[in-house]
Amino acid sequence: MAKAKTAYVCNACGADYVRWLGQCTECKAWNTITEIRLAAAPASRSRQGYAGATQAKVQTLSDVDLEQLPRFSSSFAEFDRVLGGGIVPGSAILIGGSPGAGKSTLLLQTMCRLAEQMKVLYVTGEESLQQVALRAQRLALPTNHLRMLAETSVEVICDLADQEQPKVMVIDSIQVMHLADIQSAPGSVSQVRESAAYLTRYAKQKGVAIVMVGHVTKEGALAGPKVLEHCVDCSILLEGDTDSRFRTLRGHKNRFGPANEIGVFAMTGQGLKEVTNPSAIFLQRGEQHGSGSVVMVVWEGTRPLLVELQALVDMSQLANPRRVAVGMETTRLAMLLAVLHRHGRLMMADQDVFVNVVGGVRVMETGADLALLLAIVSSFKERVLPRDLIVFGEVGLAGEIRPVPNGQARLQEAAKHGFRKAIVPLANCPKEQIKGMEVIGVRTLDEALEACAD
Ligand code: TYD
Ligand code: MG
Repeated sequence: MAKAKTAYVCNACGADYVRWLGQCTECKAWNTITEIRLAAAPASRSRQGYAGATQAKVQTLSDVDLEQLPRFSSSFAEFDRVLGGGIVPGSAILIGGSPGAGKSTLLLQTMCRLAEQMKVLYVTGEESLQQVALRAQRLALPTNHLRMLAETSVEVICDLADQEQPKVMVIDSIQVMHLADIQSAPGSVSQVRESAAYLTRYAKQKGVAIVMVGHVTKEGALAGPKVLEHCVDCSILLEGDTDSRFRTLRGHKNRFGPANEIGVFAMTGQGLKEVTNPSAIFLQRGEQHGSGSVVMVVWEGTRPLLVELQALVDMSQLANPRRVAVGMETTRLAMLLAVLHRHGRLMMADQDVFVNVVGGVRVMETGADLALLLAIVSSFKERVLPRDLIVFGEVGLAGEIRPVPNGQARLQEAAKHGFRKAIVPLANCPKEQIKGMEVIGVRTLDEALEACAD
């Protein structure tokens, strides 16, 4: 048998090294480099089968056969949207999420329906066949066609898949899978990385779409090295607190469509249900409407989303007042507070500042800056903002309000939901008036503060 090779991989960024280092020179993280044992490549029969035995050939781009590219629908429009239109045959898809997020539920619902049209193999390594069957029965899913396998050895799975010839295969989850060639335990970095690479190769060569489930650590990183994300075609995260009803499916990487698209689901007693009008759910505001609350329009993937933002500013008892942001970046909050101090002349050095994006959604875009500042000022001055006001815009370090993409579409979405007043960057003001909506364009932070003072 050929000698097993070792490599050193950074768990945070996936960089490869020939020897161990205390600090990763790529991402500068400390103590993230671990030794992994690579499988002895040419020695094993099964490995050779999928890795080396292809008849590689060079061809012109225009000659590439596009016949296989039609996608199949996952039966959930929101899931298809995140995938960029559906599942592409022969692609490797990774679905990440914290335990209990609903990954197995989503895939079971999808695959039971998909199996009515084509051959689907569901490999469960975590739950027993009875557990899966019981869940399918409880959710009243069609169970006549879905093929099931309880197995954790990747070689056995691929051998059985050769006989079954499925079009789609689910691996739940990649963390329990193992290859015989690799000595370390399932779940270790080397097993996860090599199993995923093996399955991805299998997907490509046999034209089977493989959906792998991956668990996510508390910090939101996929367990195992980042390398997992490099080798798959699509990487999707199912996010949402287990105590909140809503789950968002967010595309992080997609070789077949736009990334950063989101799909929204609600976890109900009958499994996951699609939410077709997501703006409406993030806006379930009670009759009680106090200071510190403002609605913003964020742009997620290819559509606008209305989201409520709440801020609480309170006298601090601590030497270092707290800055806490849920659903947003804390560094952005600190930066905006500095802008508010310098250009808005509002001092909050002795105040605790908490901000929360309602509904458990995470907002990444800078278009939320202005709404965040106005919510903070509203709470600080205990001044309630109008209920029918929406805000968006980016705030620069010089206190200027910068335009954001798709201003017109954002305003139209807000008007559709009954908002009558908008404070937006001047350059985002529509050329033609939007019916029933008063749009105030602002250039600086001062102008924005003035616009909501009356
Ligand atoms: P599951 O799909 O097992 O999560 P994962 O595979 O991501 O670890 O989802 C389990 C959670 O979903 C569990 O906390 C219970 C909840 N759930 C419902 O609320 N309703 C349902 O119909 C189902 C099937 C699960
Ligand atoms: Mg599961």
